[in-house]
Amino acid sequence: MHNVFPSNHPLVAHKLSTLRDKHTDSTKFRELIREIAALLAYEATADLLLQPKQVETPLAPYAGYELRERIGLIPILRAGLGMVEGVWSLMPSAEVWHIGLYRDERTLKPIEYYNKLPQEPTVSVCLILDPMLATGGSAVATVDILKRWKVKKIKFVGIIGAPEGIANLHDHHPEVPIHLAAIDERLNERGYIVPGLGDAGDRQFGTG
Ligand code: PRP
Ligand code: URA
Repeated sequence: MHNVFPSNHPLVAHKLSTLRDKHTDSTKFRELIREIAALLAYEATADLLLQPKQVETPLAPYAGYELRERIGLIPILRAGLGMVEGVWSLMPSAEVWHIGLYRDERTLKPIEYYNKLPQEPTVSVCLILDPMLATGGSAVATVDILKRWKVKKIKFVGIIGAPEGIANLHDHHPEVPIHLAAIDERLNERGYIVPGLGDAGDRQFGTG
């Protein structure tokens, strides 16, 4: 599908297998989420714009570059929180704007409970961070919020996507690139990704 980018990096495949393992404890789980997020963000930001920046090396002037775009990291609470540190370490000048959504367990629809975005956009590129793209409802709602905030470039960086969620996000927002570590088989009757990794929030925060 156009604009969907599953990673084919061996480090991602290796780390993702340990992440999925039900025997992986929450300390290791958080470490892997952080590392995989950084690897995916590296791939997702390959098209960031640059502007010239002159610097002096100890030996000579050098015609270098700096990032031209102001970047916003948008973790979807709770599970997206664990992806922030890894991505932020690559782009420490990024702003972090949290969006709080949870899925109603019965309807699987996202319920918004936290949004402190200011009136005017303060960034030009947003990376939405959420490990799980299941039905896609949370991702679609977050892109809706960012579009209302008038952000020009929006990307989704997740870890595992179900075909249903990818199709939903793509149908509503086809211009939003979807970067993932893997695309899984399907959703089960409770809206969980199979084979997946279980509940990403509970496994990170030890609440399961
Ligand atoms: C999980 C996950 C996504 C959402 C994905 O969050 O982190 O935000 O479900 O499902 P969807 O694609 O069907 O919307 P959850 O609602 O479990 O909240 P939590 O992160 O606070 O545990
Ligand atoms: N949220 C999760 O944490 N896991 C899933 O498989 C689906 C939604």
